[in-house]
Amino acid sequence: MDSSVEVPVCFAFLRKLRAKVAQSSVLELERFHATHPRFIPENLMTTYSAADTSVDQLKTRIQNHQARVGIIGLGYVGLPLALLYSEQKFRVTGFDIDARKVDTLAKGGSYIYRIAAEEVQAAKTNGFEATADFSQLTAMDAIIICVPTPLNEYHEPDLSYITDTTHSIAPHLRAGQLVVLESTTYPGTTEEVMIPILEKENKSGLKAARNEAFTGKEFFVAFSPEREDPGNTTVARRDIPKVVGGLNPQASELAGALYGSIFNRTVPVSSPAVAEMTKLLENIYRCVNIALVNELKLLCLRMGIDIWEVIEAASTKPFGFHPFYPGPGLGGHCIPVDPFYLSWKAKEWDFRTRFIELAGEINTNMPYHVLASVASALNRHKKSLNGSRVLVLGVAYKKDIDDLRESPSLTIIELLQKDGAQVSYHDPYFPFIGKGRKYDLQMKCAELKDLGQYDCVLIVTDHSDYDFPTIVREAKLVVDTRNATRGIENAKIVRC
Ligand SMILES: NC(=O)c1ccc[n+]([C@@H]2O[C@H](COP(=O)([O-])OP(=O)(O)OC[C@H]3O[C@@H](n4cnc5c(N)ncnc54)[C@H](O)[C@@H]3O)[C@@H](O)[C@H]2O)c1
Repeated sequence: MDSSVEVPVCFAFLRKLRAKVAQSSVLELERFHATHPRFIPENLMTTYSAADTSVDQLKTRIQNHQARVGIIGLGYVGLPLALLYSEQKFRVTGFDIDARKVDTLAKGGSYIYRIAAEEVQAAKTNGFEATADFSQLTAMDAIIICVPTPLNEYHEPDLSYITDTTHSIAPHLRAGQLVVLESTTYPGTTEEVMIPILEKENKSGLKAARNEAFTGKEFFVAFSPEREDPGNTTVARRDIPKVVGGLNPQASELAGALYGSIFNRTVPVSSPAVAEMTKLLENIYRCVNIALVNELKLLCLRMGIDIWEVIEAASTKPFGFHPFYPGPGLGGHCIPVDPFYLSWKAKEWDFRTRFIELAGEINTNMPYHVLASVASALNRHKKSLNGSRVLVLGVAYKKDIDDLRESPSLTIIELLQKDGAQVSYHDPYFPFIGKGRKYDLQMKCAELKDLGQYDCVLIVTDHSDYDFPTIVREAKLVVDTRNATRGIENAKIVRC
């Protein structure tokens, strides 16, 4: 066969196709590509978006739920967000370096207790996919980053997850894409850390859009903090207003449209730094107020006053008071960690954040207070901590969630063990505690029966599943760090 005839025909066809590509909606093209993969070569599928990069077009695609959304980091924040976009019929691709998570999602499973496998399966029917292949980022219109931001062993920000992710995005970046950071971090991270990497390492000399002139060689950047409250079922996720700070007005507009399609209200702020600082203010406010109430609890214990009764009475004030509650110490990925991102950054400005440091000191001391309370309660029963059998009830950092990160229970278990106690634990959410960032406990969940075998039952997390009257009835001694036994009068109970 004479191929000289076929080649020009093929080019003409491709030229027509290219014109059609520029006019068609992304969804139409993708549907066509899915059924006729031969007719649209892969390279065309990835170039359609580059040809279609004007801000208005991207905004329209977002508003029509036709934009492709890539979510990097499929953890407690990223996976629910991916499902939320998918529910709204966006085609979502999740990216994670954890092969176990990618495999589980590919099989239609879930690894987060409060997310049912059925939700993942429903998302899959809407086109949700999970992958570790970052080259697929090029096909995304918007990329949202939800990776961890812990502290390192010196209690300083560990930005390695953000920088690693940014290095992975840069080679696949294309003009007109919107990149949003959601990970909690200090003000300046988006502009000082993320953007320089994206600008330096992308292959096309693209720059972050800083003014309104879109030349076709820019990408858009915004910061939008996550505001989830794990375990709180009183506020629907979409009712939590979403703060958005774009690097330029167009980035704000695009990010506002992106979040406006799944949240009922977006709150635009003037820059990524303002959005970054907003999140820190929210968490520092909690951290400082929890420290205040923890300190007052210690005083009330000495004075023989019930702090819980005091808080309840103060809460009747219809203005100017918001209740915070004492506990065994801070836990979770956010409150014990985030404030120190700001303390660290403040040093660059020759500034000491004394409230944060004082709050940190008080909150960090709470597990030691619990240890002393258990020792003193056992002492009253003529027993020493050394050799006593202690059952820790609840290891999650707060009630009714499956999150162990920074949980005070872990510190308390370790402190009890160091003083010679024989420690067991029970938690309906954790059949086993293995190795974490700081601990390597290797403990198996005990059965919640024969409570009389323990010298002390220590309530650290007040999960709703626990039947506290029965626990008090069966135990020899109960030390309660959460006021879980409120309303139960029994000499066995020590509230601490
Ligand atoms: N969990 C919360 O309730 C909550 C609430 C508000 C804000 N935040 C913030 O959101 C961010 C994410 O928190 P989270 O609780 O979802 O964390 P997580 O540990 O549950 O999930 C993070 C995910 O990112 C993945 N990951 C790590 N490095 C990666 C990389 N280089 N590329 C791709 N994936 C990578 C991990 O494998 C993990 O699946 C943090 O900054 C946190 O402070 C969390």
